[in-house]
Amino acid sequence: MATQNFDVVVVGAGPGGYVCAIRSAQMGLKTAIIEREYMGGVCLNVGCIPSKALITAGHFLHKMEHNASDMGLTLPGKVKVDMKQMQTWKKSVCDRMAGGVEQLLKGNTVTIIRGEASFKSTTELTVKSKTGTESVTAKNFVIATGSRPIEIPGFSFDEKNVLSSTGGLALDERLESAVVIGGGYIGLEIGSMLSNFGTKVTVVEANKGLLVGLADAECVQVVARKLKKNGVDVMLEAKAKGWKKAGKGVEVTVEVGGKEQVLKADKVLVTVGRRPNSDQANIKGVGIAVDEKGFVKVNAQRRTYVPHIFAIGDIACQPMLAHKASHEGVMVAEIIAGKNRAYEVKTVPSVIFVDPEIAAAGMTEEEAKAAGYTDLKIGKFPFAANGRAVSLMETDGFVKIIADAKTHIVLGVHIVGPEASNLISEAALAVEMGARLEDLALTIHPHPTLGETMMEAAEATLGHAIHIIQKPLGGAKAGAGPRAHV
Ligand code: FAD
Ligand code: NAI
Repeated sequence: MATQNFDVVVVGAGPGGYVCAIRSAQMGLKTAIIEREYMGGVCLNVGCIPSKALITAGHFLHKMEHNASDMGLTLPGKVKVDMKQMQTWKKSVCDRMAGGVEQLLKGNTVTIIRGEASFKSTTELTVKSKTGTESVTAKNFVIATGSRPIEIPGFSFDEKNVLSSTGGLALDERLESAVVIGGGYIGLEIGSMLSNFGTKVTVVEANKGLLVGLADAECVQVVARKLKKNGVDVMLEAKAKGWKKAGKGVEVTVEVGGKEQVLKADKVLVTVGRRPNSDQANIKGVGIAVDEKGFVKVNAQRRTYVPHIFAIGDIACQPMLAHKASHEGVMVAEIIAGKNRAYEVKTVPSVIFVDPEIAAAGMTEEEAKAAGYTDLKIGKFPFAANGRAVSLMETDGFVKIIADAKTHIVLGVHIVGPEASNLISEAALAVEMGARLEDLALTIHPHPTLGETMMEAAEATLGHAIHIIQKPLGGAKAGAGPRAHV
């Protein structure tokens, strides 16, 4: 068995691992990356990128069906949805991104090893592939092996009747109906995407509300209203008990308020969270500690209990988000190269790609109060008062800013509305830099753009937004309805 030796070996080529390997090689370290399945990991192949491609297609279709004729654009008939072509297009998007990752790794002289890695000791990995087994030793290891979907009792994934997110993103036929168990990130993103393609969707959520603890409650209300308007049924405090095959579809038994109901659908999608892959690769076998939720225990430098073995991304800790994984990837590479760094971010911005999108940076009102900020200034600016949003025919939602009343320092920004995903980066910068409301309000934002809502939300929080009527002057609340932007 051949043995290769490196300064750094990264296990897993997701957005945590591949970014870490590139940065490590950039810094002159002899680096290898081991991947058992696909370059780019879950994110590029069965997660962020394919889901956003399909969500884009669904959004586009929704606009064609609901807005185009008002704009004077009429079609000769109904828009035909060709799910097979959509899958081909989706795959081309993913392949392009995954191919790009491979090129970047090679271009940075990272050695790519394909196969399943397993720790033999704290200094050696065994890699099994179709062509055989090899041994890899290194001075430092970075575990970036990610996570997988959680199964619930009675709902084993067969990807035919009971789908995980992976199956939900691979559908090449339109569904008439679907039951979605779990009203969190994935359930609502894929659920609303399916709904846009004309599928009758029923969301079964165990909690008292949708996205509980994952997004600002007021933002969620806007999305919940839109889901209802688009014909999505939501069952709260509901428990899925089991399912059986019925004809070509499924019958799902759900318990709500002590009573059982049977929901008929073509398929059931289970999206109740993801678990770290820490039960694999003999991680525990070499003395790396794992917590009760399955996350590898790490310190602020993402070192495990074995100091030269690091863990990043979904396997290390919440939030399970690609950009958090990549941030850790760069940081760990720099630590290994001798830089004095630690994970000290004020915020990991989040986006939920529903309709309209929800995005957040910094604290919610409850979190700010819990952190000791007793005197808050909170202001809101509605997209209905923004010229660009009106011209896009996407006026649902608002930008909400939470600031410390004494210092005016921005503590949190919560957006529900068009392009919230692209607007939130300004808010993340504001929170990270400790910007004051005046910094946002006095920065000239180009017109006509959705970005102006950030400036006006800051003005609203200061009590003097121009394009809404605010009474009393100087108060924290956004006033009555919007008026036209002249
Ligand atoms: P992963 O991306 O999971 O990569 C881990 C890699 O390690 C995999 O390629 C795996 O094959 C490999 N591996 C595992 N074990 C071994 C082994 N023993 N040997 C060799 N290789 C191994 N996040 C966002 O920020 N934005 C989004 O819009 C978003 N959308 C999502 C949509 C869906 C449907 C899903 C499922 C997730 C989404 N996420 C999103 C979450 C995001 O995908 C993850 O947070 C991110 O992929 C985590 O990156 P990672 O590098 O930790 O792990
Ligand atoms: P999630 O944690 O976002 O939501 C799971 C939901 O399922 C919760 O609302 C929970 O109350 C509910 N639930 C749990 N058990 C249940 C049961 N037995 N019956 C009914 N409901 C139940 O998990 P999800 O949606 O699987 O996503 C996993 C993670 O992937 C996310 O937390 C996020 O970190 C990441 N992700 C990020 C995206 C983004 O950034 N846009 C998109 C998709 C995923």
